[in-house]
This record gives sequence, C-alpha cells and structure tokens, in this order.
Amino acid sequence: MLKVNLEHLIDKVDFKDYEDKVKLINEGINNKSFPGNDYLGWLNYPNNYDKKELNLIKQKARYVRENFEVLVVCGIGGSYLGALAAINALRGLYTDDKLEIIFLGQTFSGSYIAQVLDYLKHKRFAINVISKSGTTTETSISFRLLKKLLETKIGKTNASKAIFATTDKEKGALKQEANKQGYTTFTLPSDIGGRYSVLTAVGLFPIACAGIDVDEMLEGAEEAMKEFDNEDINTNACYQYAVTRDYMYRHKKCVEMFVTYEPQYREIAEWWKQLFGESEGKDGKGLLPASVTFSTDLHSLGQFIQDGSKILFETLLFIKNPMKDVTIPHDEENLDGLNYIENKSLSYVNEKAYLGTLEAHEKDGKVNNVVLELDKLDSHNLGYLFYFFMKACAMSAYLLEVNPFNQPGVEIYKKNMFHLLGKKGY
Ligand code: PA5
Repeated sequence: MLKVNLEHLIDKVDFKDYEDKVKLINEGINNKSFPGNDYLGWLNYPNNYDKKELNLIKQKARYVRENFEVLVVCGIGGSYLGALAAINALRGLYTDDKLEIIFLGQTFSGSYIAQVLDYLKHKRFAINVISKSGTTTETSISFRLLKKLLETKIGKTNASKAIFATTDKEKGALKQEANKQGYTTFTLPSDIGGRYSVLTAVGLFPIACAGIDVDEMLEGAEEAMKEFDNEDINTNACYQYAVTRDYMYRHKKCVEMFVTYEPQYREIAEWWKQLFGESEGKDGKGLLPASVTFSTDLHSLGQFIQDGSKILFETLLFIKNPMKDVTIPHDEENLDGLNYIENKSLSYVNEKAYLGTLEAHEKDGKVNNVVLELDKLDSHNLGYLFYFFMKACAMSAYLLEVNPFNQPGVEIYKKNMFHLLGKKGY
C-alpha cells in the first residue's frame, strides 16, 4: 500500500552492505535482546491490545460526543502529538464536527492557558488528561487549572464524570488521583513509551472522540505489523527507509527534512519529529528531524533546500488523493491570468507543484529525496503509517547504536528548572 520510492536518491544505497546488520537487529528486536528491550510493547500491540479496553474507549467516546461541546486533551510530547496529528489529518483543520477538540498541558505559557480557560468558561467541556508518569509539570499545572474550572462550573461529582485519565496501570500521581476521584481511566502499558503510544488509549481515545474509526486504524497498523515483520532488506520497505536514513547520516547529511503538501498533515511531521528526534538524538549522534509544508514553505525555506548548504535530504510524504478538492473557476476578465488552468482541480495543481519541486531539488539542487507514496490518507492508512515510522525508527536507532526508547537528555532542563523554582530535593 505504501510505496517507498528511492528513485529520487542521487546517492544510491547498496542494501547488500546492510543485509547482515539488518538481520541481526531484526532478530534483536524480535528476541527483545537489545538495549531498551522492555519498551517493545508497541511491536505486537495491533493484535494483542486489550479488547475490553478498546470497547470502553469507544463507549466513552460516544458519551463524550453526545454530551459535550469540547474535549480538552491535556498532555505533552508523546501524550498528545499522535492524537493531534491524526485528528488534523483525518478531520481537516476547519471541521464542522459537533465536538471541538482543544489541546492543553503542552506549555507553561500563561497567555495560552489563560486564553483556553477563558474560552472554556461558557462551553460544556470534558477533559482527557494523559500522562504516563503522572507527574509531568506542564500537564499537571494545566490539569489542576482545568479541573478547578470544571468543578466550579458543574460541581465535583459531575466533573468526575467528565474527566478521563490515561496513565500507567498502577503507578503515579495521576493514577492515585483518578482512583480517588472516580475518573474513568485508560491504561498506557508500562512497556510502551510516550512517543510509541499513539495506537494505545493515549491516541485512540481522543481520536475516537473526534469521530474517527479506531478499529480501522488498528487494522491498518496490524497490516503494517505483518508486512514489516521480515528481515529481508530487499523487500521490507520499512527497513529500506531506516537503512537509507542511516546511509545519509553516515554520508555527511545531518538533517532529514520531512515534506508534506497538505497543511492538515503538518502535525504528522511534528509527531514524526518527536519520534525520531527523541529516539535517536543521543550520545552526540543522530539526524536532526526538521519539517516543511509545501508549497507554503517553498516561499521561505525552499530557497535553502534548493540552493543552500548541502546538509540535508528530504523525505516526502505524497498522498495522491486529498480529503477534499476545489476547481478553479473561469473568469471573464482573466486579469490574474489564471484561465489557462480554469476547470483544473487544486489537487492537480498541487501535484504539478510536487513534481516540479522534486525535479528542481533533485536535478538542480542535488538534494536526495525519499518519496513515500500513498493513494489516500484514511484511518486505516494512517494506522499503517504510524506503525511504519515506529518500526523504522527502532531499526534506524539500532543501526546508529543508540537505545531508541530512552530520553536521558530531557531530564537535565527539568532538574535546573526545578532548582530555580525551589522544588524540594533540587
Ligand atoms: O516520548 C516520551 O516519552 C515523552 O515525550 C513523553 O511522552 C512526555 O514527556 C510526556 O510524558 P508523560 O506521559 O509521562 O507525561
């Protein structure tokens, strides 16, 4: 279904050089014998998830859709980016769906938080607070404020029916509070890290609340799981992508630029950036994951990509059939000179922009391009794509000889911040 098109690579990767390494790593992933092996729960999750919990997710999502105007998803990093990516990609940016979804818990910005709280004052809203650790400061602060607002508006008992907590099965402050207040809770399995959690309740509950078919999403992920459970680099497209990234890194590229042609896919890039950036950027190694949305950014970073220093390669996600389309109308006066494309659809124009840009970057700019081609992006295909990237990321990180599942670097700013805030013990 997904085609990894490597024809637009200028530097051809010889997969033969990677055959043995890929086999070894594939075995290490399957046997759980590599560093981080206790965080491989996502690997078989698409066919061994808790069916009872999925039913609860769907049932509570229907309840939220029927009883509230707004769902506030409160989480940060892996605890919100997947849901945001899926909801924007599949519902579009200006949806007329009856349930509005807002994100909070991902910032310390008083200005942003105050605006959201003001907006919510006159809305019937529910909260999905998501935190694996249950102690992430951004999320905890926003949740405390949201909870206060909700309890003031509708009372403590009703508020507890409008709050849904996704967290660890046993541990953490959020789990304790959820138990005490009687919130509905969903579980993030202890062997799945935040950035690999989009296909668990972390992503699936808000996605289901958005009216998106989560069964289809899991089916797509399962299809990818079966397709990429294979050590053969000559046929496994997921590993071909991972190996290409490694090859680029070892041949002096330090940035991978993720390209889409749809504004509603921008957050797929944000999710992808966290996945690869947090999984690989350690021990002084790793490609910097960056992103652009074309054609918008052809009018800004396009210049650099075409003509600037040769530090990057592009990974382009091109979806042939968009969610919606419009046709360019005829204009009698034709002062804008657009009648030459009258009656053409915007998807036709967008595709020509893509083909023209690809040629410009490859032929004139000498920029390597990996093209990921999909016919359309529905919930099935997005589930497939999420899984494709997660598995590619594990292979790619192991090729780089780093643990894909830890993030020691993110603790350092927290320690300093806690010290400055006067937290006990820092
Ligand atoms: O991928 C990760 O592990 C992180 O981005 C976490 O998801 C993020 O820090 C949020 O953590 P938590 O879910 O514990 O609040």
